[in-house]
Order: sequence, then C-alpha cells, then structure tokens
Amino acid sequence: MRNIKPIIDPSRPKVYIETYGCQMNVNDSEVILSILQEEGYALTESMDEADVILANTCSIRDNAEQRIWGRIDQFKLQKRKRDGVIIGIVGCMAERLKDKLLEAVDLVAGPDSYRSLPELLRAIRPDNPQINVLLSHEETYAEISPVRLDKNGVSAFISIMRGCNNVCSYCVVPYTRGAERSREPQSILREAQEIYANGYKEVTLLGQNVDSYFWKDKENPANNVNFAQLLEMVAKISPELRVRFSTSHPKDISDEVIYTMAMYDNICKHIHLPVQSGSSIMLEKMRRKYNREWYLERVKKIRSVIPDCGITTDVIAGFCGETEQDHKDTLTLMEEVVFDSAFMFAYSERPGTLASRKYPDDIPYETKTKRLNEIIELQGRMSLKSNEKEVGRRLKVLVEGPSKRNPDELCGRAGNYKMCVFPSRGEKAGDYCEVEVTSVTPATLLCKRID
Ligand code: SAH
Ligand code: SF4
Ligand code: F3S
Repeated sequence: MRNIKPIIDPSRPKVYIETYGCQMNVNDSEVILSILQEEGYALTESMDEADVILANTCSIRDNAEQRIWGRIDQFKLQKRKRDGVIIGIVGCMAERLKDKLLEAVDLVAGPDSYRSLPELLRAIRPDNPQINVLLSHEETYAEISPVRLDKNGVSAFISIMRGCNNVCSYCVVPYTRGAERSREPQSILREAQEIYANGYKEVTLLGQNVDSYFWKDKENPANNVNFAQLLEMVAKISPELRVRFSTSHPKDISDEVIYTMAMYDNICKHIHLPVQSGSSIMLEKMRRKYNREWYLERVKKIRSVIPDCGITTDVIAGFCGETEQDHKDTLTLMEEVVFDSAFMFAYSERPGTLASRKYPDDIPYETKTKRLNEIIELQGRMSLKSNEKEVGRRLKVLVEGPSKRNPDELCGRAGNYKMCVFPSRGEKAGDYCEVEVTSVTPATLLCKRID
C-alpha cells in the first residue's frame, strides 16, 4: 500500500507549509507536498529548520490578505537568520497579485502551476525570483495522490473539480482559480479507495460548486458522470466510509443529489448551502441566479426528502446598496430556515470583481459591523434552537478524539455535522459510537451512550 503520510527524513531538504483559506487550499497543500516529496523534499513542522517556507494563501476578503502580509514579514526574519532560505507565496493571493509579490518573496505560484514548483525552486537565485501564475483549463492534478496533512487519520479531502464558472459579483475566486473543470471520476474513486485502505473513515468531496460536477466521456456518452452519480460511486466503496461534500450552490443542487443522499446511509445528511442574503434584490446584484423564494423552496425540498438533514450556510452583511429592509430580509430568512450553523462575513470589496467595477462599496463600516453582529447574534439563537430539536435523538458519531475539556469524554461529528461529546469507553479516533442526545449548547450536543 502506498504511504500517504508525510515522509519524515532529516537528511532531506525541508519544506514548511502554512495553509490559509478554504478546504480546497488544505487539499492543495497536500498536492504540493506530494509533488515536493517526489523532488526529494520532506515536510517539517518547524519554520526554524525549513529550507523552503511556503504560504498557501487566500484572497477571499481583504483581511485574509492582510494577515498574510504580516506572515511574510515573519518569514523574512528567517531569511536574516539563515542564508539561502526560500520564501514562496502560492495559491489565490499569488494568482491575484502576481509579480507585485516578487519584491517581497522568492517564489510566486498560482493554483494551477504546482507541477512546476520543482523547476521553479531549482531556478531560484538570490536576485532571481521565480513566478508561474498561468491558469489552466485542464489541470486537476488527477493522478497526483496527495500526502495527507491531517493529524488524526480519520477524515480526508478529495478535490473533484477546480475553478468556478459562476460570476458572483463580489467574489474573487473565478479570477484566482480560473475556469471550472471536473476531474476524471476513476481517479477520484482510486483516491477514495486508497484513503479508505489507509484507515480513513470519511471523505469530503470538494468543489466551489459540486452540483455542476460533470465528466464528459469523449468516446462514450453513456459513461458521462454527474455529481449525483459520482456521489453514489464513492458511497459504494464501503458502508463504513462516510461521504461528505461541499459546497452546494442553491441554483444547481438537484433533486437527484437529494434522493441519492437519502438512499445511502453513509452519505452524511448535511448540506452546506450558502445563501449569502435573504433579499432577492441583493441576490440579483450578487448575481447568485436564484431568489429568496427559490432558496426557500430548495430547503423545503431537502427537508421533505431528508427530514433531519443538517443545513449550514454562508451570509454576507453589508453588500453594496444593502438597505435596512434587505438586511431584515436576511434575518427573517435565517429565522425561517433555522440553519444549524453559519459562516458570517462583512462584505469586503475585491479589486477586479464585477461589484468593484459596478457598485460603490457604500455601506459604512459601522453599519456593516452592526448588521453582521445582529446576524451573528441571531444565528447563535438559531443554532441553539436547531440543537434543542436533537434532544432525545439517537445519532451515529465518528470519533475524532478525546474531548478538549475532559479526557474521559470523546468528541466527534454526527452525520448532520453537529459536534457531539459523550463518555469514552476507550474508543479511538476513527471508531463509530451510538449515542443519544441529552442536552445541548449552541455549538455542541451532549450525549449518553446507547451502544
Ligand atoms: N463557492 C462557494 C463559496 C466560496 S467563498 C459558494 O458559492 O457558496 C466562501 C464564502 O466567502 C462565500 O460563500 C461568501 O459568503 C464569502 N465571500 C466571498 N466573497 C466575499 C467578499 N468579497 N466579501 C465577504 N465575503 C465573501
Ligand atoms: Fe465565488 Fe460564486 Fe464561484 Fe462560490 S459560486 S466560488 S461565491 S463565484
Ligand atoms: Fe479558497 Fe480563499 Fe482561494 S476561499 S479558493 S483559498 S480565495
């Protein structure tokens, strides 16, 4: 069996990687490490002993980039301490800022250029930094088996597609990640099987818009694969292997996907369905291509087929021109849906996006913050409400490890993605436990054992 854990070898040159941004970036760092291990590098978790220091970066909001500029200053201190240390910025910020980063670092590589990293590293000289920010229409790193960077060997990410073809007006991703392309399904299956054979119990299929996954077989259209079919193929690997996916787009999530989820016990009953706003006027301006009614209909459909399905979301507060009424529409939608949890953000204008060209970023900072705080406060109450519904329910939990507060207790997620805490009987990460929910907080289900 192939080793999918990082190589630890003190005699090799060492690479240190920090990862920012989304799950796709986490998986990309695993691809990068795989490529660099082939080139003779080994991973180090200490920046102080690294020959190459990489930051895999995110551009989604301005504060994400500001944080990375701060890190670059830290990395540069290493350069002063030790001659020959290479500093590289890879990922979305590399793609967005391109040669503007070359003054600060030795290496700049965009998300589609990781195969060229060995070559770029070899070419770097003190006064000759290297850059590759070409985007590709084909690259999916399909046959590169990522070296797993997770700590507990339970849950792994698999990228099933790259890029994004939507043009949500606020979003920088289509510019940093390029056009959408789907990965060949057999390579996805092989990777999932390899993960399972290595003892993992959960895979999460990743894409910016998984519902538009589509593999077109050039020779035989009967072999075309859509997302529902891919989900089924992965679910069939083993009933012991849980399957998750992210992110679903409200305009594209199909009934076929919802029915496929219902058919397989090991497809987790959780959908991350970012709504962004509850106001149809804002949704139109955001170019999300659905409105409030459409979103609520999708939620209704999901719950009619899978009554206990976990639904989580993303919300943006203070998008261009957002009125008090638009904001209230977001609050009432959140109250109507009762999301299990949400990622909530203040709008951050991104240079080059449609919104930055067309609409002034006209909501004052104080108003954005006030609205965001109202959204966060409401979601806190909704999370508690959604958790209270779970009291008395029986859940199957995949153990992640000891609970942080009490070593006699374990923690892990139920299929609906809710975090459960319950008494340990010596199980370890990767075991399944049956529990019943006895009480809740907004973030956790407290459970007793029933197995
Ligand atoms: N592909 C996913 C989301 C990717 S980005 C989707 O379509 O839902 C993750 C989240 O970041 C988005 O859902 C959105 O809520 C937030 N986001 C994206 N651009 C943003 C911006 N300019 N300002 C604030 N939040 C933003
Ligand atoms: Fe960005 Fe929209 Fe694509 Fe999501 S679907 S990555 S929000 S453009
Ligand atoms: Fe992900 Fe951030 Fe890029 S959210 S796709 S790393 S801009």
